[in-house]
Amino acid sequence: MRFDIITIFPTIFDSYFHEGMIRKATEQKLLEIHIHNLRDFSTDKWKKVDDIPFGGGAGMVMTPQPLVDAVKALKKLNPGPVIYLSPKGETLTHTRAKRWASEWQKKSGAILICGRYEGIDQRVIDLCVDQEISIGKYVLTGGELAAMTLIDTVSRFIPGVLGDENSHQEETFSRKLQGKKEYPHYTKPRNFSGLEVPEVLLSGNHAKINAWRRNQLS
Ligand code: ADE
Repeated sequence: MRFDIITIFPTIFDSYFHEGMIRKATEQKLLEIHIHNLRDFSTDKWKKVDDIPFGGGAGMVMTPQPLVDAVKALKKLNPGPVIYLSPKGETLTHTRAKRWASEWQKKSGAILICGRYEGIDQRVIDLCVDQEISIGKYVLTGGELAAMTLIDTVSRFIPGVLGDENSHQEETFSRKLQGKKEYPHYTKPRNFSGLEVPEVLLSGNHAKINAWRRNQLS
């Protein structure tokens, strides 16, 4: 799956996408992530990408020209839907991430627009955006964190990104976890700071272990 991200802060993504599961998935070519600096698409002499809002009000608005040109250029490379990360969008959930992963995979990817300031000119949304997605009911200073969260969450559903064993666990979790917390995890040492690992987890009895874990979820 190919993701193209449009942002005015391209370096924000450098460390996150170069570590852990996302890095591995990229190396295995299950995932391709391309970051694009919005300013590169600005026809303005000073590479300006924002301006004051018509009608007045606080803050700046991202101008349509660089965004529309960026999307036009990237559509030639990525046939997937254009997503605008916005607090007004449909909220990201486990179930939706799973659905989007399969929809976007069929189209080979998605193009993500990260807004800053007060947001983007409405005409960009009207002309180019297929879907608005929020990662939660709060306002971030920009869409970059939301884009990272979305890609991370969706990527877990791309076949092969999690090992076979883990993806099976993911299935089991998704059924059990709806609206609930995960069960507690323990690793070595058996005693840490006077706190013991629950005896049942050391028993080797998987029926009992599963029953204990189920009990922790309710
Ligand atoms: N941009 C600002 N706040 C956001 C949010 N909650 N989700 C997605 N994009 C955002």
